[in-house]
Amino acid sequence: MNKQTQYERLLPQVKALCEGESDMIAKMANVSALLHQEFGFWWTGFYRVVDNELVLGPFQGPLACVHIGYGKGVCGTAWKEVRTVVVPDVEEFPGHIACSSESRSEIVVPMRKDGRVVAVLDIDSRELATFDDVDAQWLEQVADAVVGQ
Ligand code: SME
Repeated sequence: MNKQTQYERLLPQVKALCEGESDMIAKMANVSALLHQEFGFWWTGFYRVVDNELVLGPFQGPLACVHIGYGKGVCGTAWKEVRTVVVPDVEEFPGHIACSSESRSEIVVPMRKDGRVVAVLDIDSRELATFDDVDAQWLEQVADAVVGQ
């Protein structure tokens, strides 16, 4: 099954998990588990904007750093620039924060509510160039479902 088909099947499940649920952390917990199991990524999770930094939220995978500053790493860049950041090779991304030395490529999707970034969805792969525009397009819809936009 190609990933387009996987995402087509997965998005309705994400929406079903999120509809009618107001607790963001609960939604993040279930959605990180769903994405992680479906695709077998290395690390799948969320960072929430708390005060003026990103703080680790629900995730699946190895332990991760807890605090990330505005504009720092891939996550902080996606937050600052309010755009999905696709990194085919983390070693080529200046300032990449290596929570795990196994990570080779990464995608980070900012999650907006009422026009403000409230969290990011971060996914890491142990292979180079795992993510592209297809992932970006679908994961942005996943992010919208989680924040309820
Ligand atoms: N690599 C991320 C940090 C978070 S971990 O990948 C889970 C970054 O550079 O922002």
